[in-house]
Amino acid sequence: MKEKIIGRGAEALLIKKGNLLLKKRIRKGYRHERLDLLLRTSRTRHEARLLRKAGQIISTPIVKAIDGMTKRRFDPETEIEMQFIPGKLLSEDLDKFSIPRALQICWQIGRNTALIHDKDIIHGDLTTSNMILKGKNVYFIDFGLGFHSGRAEDKAVDMHLLKQALESKHFKRAPKYVGAVLKGYKNSEKYNIVIEKLKKVEARGRYKGKAKGKNY
Ligand SMILES: Nc1ncnc2c1ncn2[C@@H]1O[C@H](COP(=O)(O)OP(=O)(O)O)[C@@H](O)[C@H]1O
Ligand SMILES: [Mg+2]
Repeated sequence: MKEKIIGRGAEALLIKKGNLLLKKRIRKGYRHERLDLLLRTSRTRHEARLLRKAGQIISTPIVKAIDGMTKRRFDPETEIEMQFIPGKLLSEDLDKFSIPRALQICWQIGRNTALIHDKDIIHGDLTTSNMILKGKNVYFIDFGLGFHSGRAEDKAVDMHLLKQALESKHFKRAPKYVGAVLKGYKNSEKYNIVIEKLKKVEARGRYKGKAKGKNY
């Protein structure tokens, strides 16, 4: 079966083969060789672990067995083989939906975030480039910057980044989108505490922006 490179991120190469997707962290020539391998190995393991854990709660690509059950040879140290999700990347397609449909999707984004936060998983890079809509389900992908934390502040920062991503990428509909995301997030056990923290995080951002003379 033919392999096709479908993405080339800052860190990784994304290769599609049939219904599989290989995320391959590539060597960075400017890093010391052993340090480079250490970083790639730990980030790969970390991401695979978080993907698996989140996958028990929300829709995420299924991570294939490390010992190569799929017959394809791959390096489990620096590569993750997962299910390819044939769907619409929300960064490109969210605004193409009618507003009521787009708001349902945003509600689901908020609910998914609440569900992983309730299990103390912080995604770390909640943007619509890391979400795929397949059928009626929003899949979260790319847990490369994710981590475990029970702190409300870490959850608030995750929400803050999501709001910022919506405001920059989907600016025309952003206020509506953010409203729907927050409604979906209401399901979180710690909704009130996280929203309080979110206000603080945002106030801090505004202050920092002013201090630098930026219109935050
Ligand atoms: N499991 C998957 N199924 C379908 N497309 C995917 C999958 N994983 C990644 N992609 C595509 O590849 C892009 C980059 O993958 P991602 O994991 O976000 O890597 P990066 O860390 O470089 O952002 C995504 O925005 C998406 O378009
Ligand atoms: Mg990504």
